[in-house]
Amino acid sequence: MEPPKHHGDPLAGMYVLAAIFLFVGGLVVVMMMFLRPNWDSRGEGANLYIPGTSAGFMRETEIKIGPPGVREVSPGKYEVILAAYNWSFSPNEIHVPAGSEVTFRAYSAEDYHGVMIPGTNVFISLLQQEVSEATHTFTEAGEYLFVCSYYCGGGHGSMVGRVIVN
Ligand code: CUA
Repeated sequence: MEPPKHHGDPLAGMYVLAAIFLFVGGLVVVMMMFLRPNWDSRGEGANLYIPGTSAGFMRETEIKIGPPGVREVSPGKYEVILAAYNWSFSPNEIHVPAGSEVTFRAYSAEDYHGVMIPGTNVFISLLQQEVSEATHTFTEAGEYLFVCSYYCGGGHGSMVGRVIVN
């Protein structure tokens, strides 16, 4: 007596395919967890370098001109690398001595913004994927507010920073 034959089950192929899809799907999920691609623009924690994206632009910019911050480039001359986000500036507090010539190199990490320091010639638009510059000499001590000069949505009013000259 022969054992019953099961080959030719029309569903067998489907089961195999389903198993493969589940396995590949699981693999993709696990890979995403490890690589943590950060599609939003801040680039924090992004392990993937994606040219042409905001995160990619930020990496390129940081390599080219340095990370956001304030640096003295020569006696009395400062450079501020200023990044604009939705909706904040980095850095948002800049300390320089009175008489400093400050060059702002600013860019937007997300969408469109601007930088304006009322009472100075600093009034720049920040387009995406571009670094814009403006220079001003702060002869008098005091606090100079800088704000976003382009209406950029709900958080526009909170895009404020201070240049503290002393
Ligand atoms: Cu950013 Cu208005």
